[in-house]
Amino acid sequence: MCGIVGYIGHRQAADVILDGLKRLEYRGYDSAGMVVSPQGANLNLVKRAGKLGVLAEAVKTTPLKGTLGLGHTRWATHGKPTDINAHPHLSEDGRLAVIHNGIIENYLPLKKQLLAKGHVFASDTDTEVLVHLIEEHYGGDLVAAVRAALVEVSGAYALVVFHADYELIVAARATSPMVIGIGKNENFVASDVPALLPYTRKVVFLHDGDMALISRDEITVTDFVGQVLEREVSNIDWDAEAAEKSGYPHYMLKEIYEQASVLQQTFGGRFAANGSDVALDLTLNPALIDRVVITAAGTASYAGMVGEYLIEKLARLPVEVEVASEFRYREPVLNERTLCVVVSQSGETIDTLEALREAKRQGAKTLAILNVKGSSISREVDDVLYIHAGPEIGVASTKAYMAMLAAFELLAIWLGRHRGTLSDERAAEIIRALRHTPVLIEQALESREQIAQIAEAFKGYNDYLFLGRGINFPTALEGALKLKEISYIHAEAYATGEMKHGPIALIDDDMPVVTIATKSSLYEKTVSNIQEVKARDGIVIALINEADEEIKNHIDYAISVPETDELVSPLVNVVALQLLAYETAERLGLDVDQPRNLAKSVTVE
Ligand code: AGP
Repeated sequence: MCGIVGYIGHRQAADVILDGLKRLEYRGYDSAGMVVSPQGANLNLVKRAGKLGVLAEAVKTTPLKGTLGLGHTRWATHGKPTDINAHPHLSEDGRLAVIHNGIIENYLPLKKQLLAKGHVFASDTDTEVLVHLIEEHYGGDLVAAVRAALVEVSGAYALVVFHADYELIVAARATSPMVIGIGKNENFVASDVPALLPYTRKVVFLHDGDMALISRDEITVTDFVGQVLEREVSNIDWDAEAAEKSGYPHYMLKEIYEQASVLQQTFGGRFAANGSDVALDLTLNPALIDRVVITAAGTASYAGMVGEYLIEKLARLPVEVEVASEFRYREPVLNERTLCVVVSQSGETIDTLEALREAKRQGAKTLAILNVKGSSISREVDDVLYIHAGPEIGVASTKAYMAMLAAFELLAIWLGRHRGTLSDERAAEIIRALRHTPVLIEQALESREQIAQIAEAFKGYNDYLFLGRGINFPTALEGALKLKEISYIHAEAYATGEMKHGPIALIDDDMPVVTIATKSSLYEKTVSNIQEVKARDGIVIALINEADEEIKNHIDYAISVPETDELVSPLVNVVALQLLAYETAERLGLDVDQPRNLAKSVTVE
């Protein structure tokens, strides 16, 4: 996710852009840049790797004069965070500028075609393909050139373009957010509302498939083929701080609600056209490994446990998962046929980084499932499978966990297909379920009211037990961690079948038992476990599939989640547990985004 700001009006564009980018820096901070168009002359560009402050310093020494400009703060997806890869990207003649947020899924074949036509690329980003594609179609009509280029592009993106021949900004949206700000003889475009608030509260949220032609005193919204569209003008009454959270009270809630669109970024471009394979840009040769070790910390380790189920099931490779703080000290036995997968949102968790170093010392092949590009882990690992979750601000991980699960789904399919242990049909079935998951996540979010009532009823309890079986045992662990870390309520998780071996002694009417009872190969056993809890006056709060009426006779409270393929169900089920933790902590008046004693990334031992 990146920050985009565009301005056309009577002010110095550079001032408006820099101010706007500062308010969007939470969307990404690998690099930043801006381009300003002094009427008709060539565009003036300044862009730098690093945080926005580096760009601000550079602009001080290279003042950019002009009342039309674009700016961007980057969350790197393709191409390292360097000056060259920073946006904006210019055409070879320096008269066309593009900035972009999202992923151009088919950028490699397009780049090949453009190179064959003699285009010279400066960066290794997917964005630069847009510049050369528009340039290829540009015969003097900028809007027509952008439309023609978009016909050839697939992916999730928001883009903003201008050309030195025009006093006009052209914007287009396909999934990634874009909002227009309406001023007096000036107009704005941005990836999020905070950048607009100092200047206007009148905004137009572009819809998927919208294009906008923005001049100083006119805004026209059309579809990608030119049909004019009516779009509502909204009046924003948020304050600046609320706006950074897009109107949500906490970053954590915003990030829970972003998960459906994050999945589209994680999956972006990685499903093969044949529908039964995945395309992962890895150097790893699966034929050379006979064992997988997954190591991480906290929530990331639970994602690793889901990965264990997936890889063993689909790729028939032995997998073990161990928390990094144990793994790194126990002299594990690894060799060159071991694949060590490290999982980390921040890429800076010291235990995970040291575990990676131990694996490398022993000659294991290493792969990171990682969010932050340019992080320490990204620089030391053989291969990286980026999760593209965008900056995660809430200390309690939600969307990054979701994206890690999605990455493990892709990795397990990729390994299974390479090893011949996963059939076309089964791979296609799982891929179909994955493609449908964003819709199911939106449906799962509709249970929020039901979950809030349960949170209200149980916010005063001091102990919770979370139970899950099979691939959803890690989901129970993650649900318990979410509740612990933001509501400070003691919560522990057990494999449901394990309850009889001790924890059942805890059961009484003082401890809610949250049980994952969605349809699965172990559903009947889960129902009997629930009856064991009820037989001891336990309180059962069960995650069930909407259509499951029968189970309601055995439980006290139901949280309905949509049904999906068992191997994909952890992605849907966890949403309900994230909301349960959030609604509980919110009702206890606790600091949801910065819980006590915690840090977003534990870089100390
Ligand atoms: C999760 O909600 C916690 N913030 C914590 O367990 C976190 O997952 C863990 O510290 C690992 O962080 P990482 O993914 O950045 O390595």
